[in-house]
Amino acid sequence: MNTQGIIHVSHLSKVYKTEGMETTALSDISFDIQKGEFVAIMGPSGSGKSTLMHILGALDTPTTGQYILDGENVENLTDDELADIRNKKIGFIFQAFNLLPRITVLQNVMLPMRYAGIPEEERKKTAQKYLEMVGLGHRLSHTSSQISGGQQQRVAIARGLAMNPALLLADEPTGNIASAQAEEIMAIFQELNNKQGHTIVMITHEPDIAAHSKRIITVKDGKIISDKKNPKPIPAKRTNAID
Ligand SMILES: Nc1ncnc2c1ncn2[C@@H]1O[C@H](COP(=O)(O)OP(=O)(O)OP(=O)(O)O)[C@@H](O)[C@H]1O
Ligand SMILES: [Mg+2]
Repeated sequence: MNTQGIIHVSHLSKVYKTEGMETTALSDISFDIQKGEFVAIMGPSGSGKSTLMHILGALDTPTTGQYILDGENVENLTDDELADIRNKKIGFIFQAFNLLPRITVLQNVMLPMRYAGIPEEERKKTAQKYLEMVGLGHRLSHTSSQISGGQQQRVAIARGLAMNPALLLADEPTGNIASAQAEEIMAIFQELNNKQGHTIVMITHEPDIAAHSKRIITVKDGKIISDKKNPKPIPAKRTNAID
């Protein structure tokens, strides 16, 4: 086994069973992702991208096949061990942002650090730093129901980054935001990847966004149909375009 691989997936399948109906979302998928990669996953709607992301984030289990995350066979971990890995090693930015609507933007970003037992002052400082990074320093005390969809997306990004995760999983991180802001988010991802060595796996529908990554995996009907290195990732510019 390659000891450097942060993700090792082998012959993975996922079949959803609902009311007597079976849907094959993933079918015999195998690949590895090394530490420090920046991977874009592309493919049409319903091709299995989010299903794959949930499994990679240890939020769901495959029907068959193996998933080894940073040397640990996910199948053998207890629920407590999984929760701990999710909290400490993985940053999630999902399609449904899962922000708590009644607490403030700042508190939403502080929350994962609270689960990790980080002292309040440090939580506040870190949360503020990442919210400023995504251009929301002026919205700290709004609740997440009082900000726009694109701003909510950016709160979710700040929250995903706040624990400084070795592995960042992002499902359409630029899906609901204007293109100048998307460019800014990509600049942040590239900075994390190039300067800090974070591994990033990002789902996107947009070829322009995927062009910033170092490798593009394309999924169709639950199968990988192409997996290519991107020899010349387009550098995204920090434009301070965020409002
Ligand atoms: N909980 C579920 N129960 C049953 N079927 C599901 C469930 N989640 C997803 N599916 C089905 O599995 C397939 C893959 O869904 P998935 O959400 O992974 O697609 P996707 O590639 O992320 O699509 P999109 O680009 O629209 O987000 C789809 O056919 C979908 O209808
Ligand atoms: Mg999806």
